[in-house]
Amino acid sequence: MATQPVTQRDSFTSKIGIIAAVAGSAVGLGNIWKFPYITGVFGGGAFVLVYLICIALIGLPVMLSEFIIGRKAQRNAVGSFKKLAPGTLWFMPGIMGLVAAFMILAFYGVVAGWTLEYLLKSVLNAFAGKNPADLEGMFGGFISQVTKPIIWQCVFMGLTGWIVLAGIKGGIERASKLLMPILLMIIIILDIRAITLPGAAEGLAFLFKPDFSKLSAEGMLSALGHAFFSLSLGMGTLITYSSYMGKRENLATTAVQVTVADTVIALLAGIAIFPAVFAFGIEPGAGPGLVFITLPNVFQQMPGGYFFCLLFFLLLAVAALTSSISILEVVVAYFVEELKLGRRAATIMATVAITIAGIPCSLSMGVMSNVQFMGKTFFDWLDFIAANILLPLGGLLIVAFVGWYLGREKTETEVTNEGELKAGYLPLFMFLAKFVAPVVIAIVFLHGLGLF
Ligand code: PHE
Repeated sequence: MATQPVTQRDSFTSKIGIIAAVAGSAVGLGNIWKFPYITGVFGGGAFVLVYLICIALIGLPVMLSEFIIGRKAQRNAVGSFKKLAPGTLWFMPGIMGLVAAFMILAFYGVVAGWTLEYLLKSVLNAFAGKNPADLEGMFGGFISQVTKPIIWQCVFMGLTGWIVLAGIKGGIERASKLLMPILLMIIIILDIRAITLPGAAEGLAFLFKPDFSKLSAEGMLSALGHAFFSLSLGMGTLITYSSYMGKRENLATTAVQVTVADTVIALLAGIAIFPAVFAFGIEPGAGPGLVFITLPNVFQQMPGGYFFCLLFFLLLAVAALTSSISILEVVVAYFVEELKLGRRAATIMATVAITIAGIPCSLSMGVMSNVQFMGKTFFDWLDFIAANILLPLGGLLIVAFVGWYLGREKTETEVTNEGELKAGYLPLFMFLAKFVAPVVIAIVFLHGLGLF
């Protein structure tokens, strides 16, 4: 009897908890670097409120939709749509997801490279005795260099490619199951230090007291885009991951757990950062350097700061790695299953191409900072197009696919594991998937682009 070809991705989650893999993908730089920085740029509390609403009304239904599609079809992001809706154009969101994955990983690799440099700096105790202005200068000096950030980016992308290639994701995910709770603990310790700094109250008010006069249309679109980015939604990552899920997994429970964990970690990161931002007189809208400038200040004000700082950047790099492998996996799974490339060739090609695309992102922080179009650098554009355009549109099509194309019956079969589980939430989910999520995404999207 001929043996069935075993797809290599199979080995990934069968051995480990799917929650660790999905949470590993969700929790990353999005929570700890991007959320605080864009919250600062878009004015604080009102942005956070819109973000939380987007998570609950849109993020959660989209996540469940991706789980339904992936587990039902058991294919990559494009192949899943082709299998469930043959002969239609429904594979388009899969293609958009591939493009988004490519763009996101290009700049993600750059920022992850920064965390490696900061890890080295913490080992060398380079922050000792530095005041906030020194640390700001240190960050600006580093990212504006030509070679060093690119070298770190290459190191990080090499690690990502190597893990995807060597198929040791199981090991990484298992390790991250152990490491992420430690990261969470460090963030909580940071929170305690930050909120007991003199002047901390102002930072908490910035984060939690909505001032709607500060909320722009672009801010709302960014809150929506970030809900997708942070939960790894809208580009097929979770379709790809859930294609490895067992038929007995409770999809809805997994979606809720991951969403709650991801959101709590983002908020805790905000609580660590904004009180310190105000206490040290740092500009909340300082941009992508916010975390890198603020946290070394906080660590210096803590007993054992050297140790915590080192551990923090180490774990942040690991968190970034468990996200970056999930992004690369989208592209590799597509190359392997749809284009029939070998896994090795696919991984090397994708990693090299994405790394090259990341180089101008890195240079955007220095020599290319003046190369702008409509006030945005190359880095900003990749982030904007991927997170604020492709992910929301992809998300819209994904929920609409489940709500309108698959419909209630097939959805019910999938979420109840063919009748084994109860799904009292189903009418609510169908309502959100058919109407609320698509309409809200469309409105915020058109409004954010100034078309509505
Ligand atoms: N969710 C990841 C983070 O927050 C980034 C990511 C985006 C991963 C999209 C996969 C897909 O860092």
